[in-house]
Amino acid sequence: MQKTLEKYYILWYTIIYDLSVESEMRGSDGLAAVTVSEEELKEQRFFIQRVRAVTHLFGHKPMAYTHSYGCQQNVSDSEKLDGMLEEMGFGFADSPENADLVLYNTCAVRENAENRVFGNVGALKHAKRRNPEMVIAVCGCMVQQEHIAQRMKERFPYVDLIFGTHVLHKFPEMLYGIYEKGGRLVCIPESDGIVAEGLPVRRTDRIKASVPIMYGCNNFCTYCIVPKVRGRERSRAADGVIAEVRGLLEEGYKEILLLGQNVNSYGKGSGTDFPQLLRELDGFDGEYVISFMTSHPKDCSHELIDVIADSRHISHHLHLPVQSGSDRILKLMNRHYDTAKYLELVDYARSRIPDIQLTTDIIVGFPGETYEDLRMTLELMERVRYDSAFTFIYSRREGTKAAEMDDPVTDEEKGKWFRELLEVQGRIGENAYARYVGQTLRVLVEGRGRTDEKLLTGKSRQNIIVDLAGSDELQGKFVDVRITKALPWALIGETIQ
Ligand code: 5AD
Ligand code: SF4
Repeated sequence: MQKTLEKYYILWYTIIYDLSVESEMRGSDGLAAVTVSEEELKEQRFFIQRVRAVTHLFGHKPMAYTHSYGCQQNVSDSEKLDGMLEEMGFGFADSPENADLVLYNTCAVRENAENRVFGNVGALKHAKRRNPEMVIAVCGCMVQQEHIAQRMKERFPYVDLIFGTHVLHKFPEMLYGIYEKGGRLVCIPESDGIVAEGLPVRRTDRIKASVPIMYGCNNFCTYCIVPKVRGRERSRAADGVIAEVRGLLEEGYKEILLLGQNVNSYGKGSGTDFPQLLRELDGFDGEYVISFMTSHPKDCSHELIDVIADSRHISHHLHLPVQSGSDRILKLMNRHYDTAKYLELVDYARSRIPDIQLTTDIIVGFPGETYEDLRMTLELMERVRYDSAFTFIYSRREGTKAAEMDDPVTDEEKGKWFRELLEVQGRIGENAYARYVGQTLRVLVEGRGRTDEKLLTGKSRQNIIVDLAGSDELQGKFVDVRITKALPWALIGETIQ
């Protein structure tokens, strides 16, 4: 019986992956990227209505519990999945126990992110036993890897639906299949990726909005699983991005975060590259901030820095992941820049934008890394004096080049190196924000403080958290704040009337 079912689902899976092509966009390697057609979206809208009809029979409002792991791109995908759920009639529960449907959108970037998902899916066993009608779905980067999808399917027989990164827009159809036919469905087609425009989006924040401008990655850094799970780089058409941002600003959003694995290679091969896109997005009326992530140093140009420096609205924050301060390791990582080029960029950015906030990502314990290499990273950190650094211990990812490299250093040794790195950045970061004390910064007030409810919290043009005293009407407004104190992770200030 199980075998027949599987065969049936594989067949069904082939049917649902029959994508229709409406138009072509250029990926940065000149290859065509496929846009989901209006006809396909119409079909999904039909399935949205079918799911609505099914859940209507529950006799109560259907509730979904969704959680996104990993990066902002994933959060943005989850806003689309939530958007589709909302249109399917779902409300949102604050825990899996009270939900009719649980959806985890997973991350594959490091092993500990995956372990967390395995743990959380494991914990759903009891909820499913109490409520056998509950649908459990797991999607995203982690299950786009076939060996993980297989493990998920075998270890957790109560997971109903597993789907990868390239069929997000088919969620209504897949969910309807589960409700209608029962059984389990695994849908993880390989693809160089599609661009799904026009999906509903459920944004919970009224002040900040994320806008993906490109998907996938072509860089093949040897440690990184992203190109494998998210496919080749493909950019959204500039017109679509500009129209979306204009619409969001008209709706009253004040901060727009542009997303891509490597925004600097946006639009390569088309008429509008990233600096040009930023220029266009800087041209709207009113007060707002445009920020973006992530920049790859190999494609970060002086032109981009000039655009930021000359802009009215673009955040004075550059997140420029260096990964290592050793040229030998950068080569093994396939990063396509050396420390000299990186430092030149940093110096140019600081000369053009003196108040810029500089942050980075660093990996410790890459295969073959020695203490000498680590020392070079520490030296680079001292030279750049980052405002903050996200540091990671190398995690072996099956299917990447680095996974095949010799990795003789013990985990214990890597742990020691990691702590040394944290200590150095801790010392640098401790006083990094002190330079803003006494200055007046323009701050977008975002809400009540995370650690102190009595204070409001917001972000400066440099994308630094600023806490201040004030009343709730300031939320969503820009105010001038005189900075009185610097903490390692935030600034404290008072509004100037
Ligand atoms: N191991 C550890 N860190 C990694 N990153 C990406 N892949 C790995 C890996 N295999 C880090 C990089 C990247 C950030 C998002 O995650 O520093 O910039
Ligand atoms: Fe984001 Fe990369 Fe994690 Fe996917 S694997 S969610 S792209 S960080």
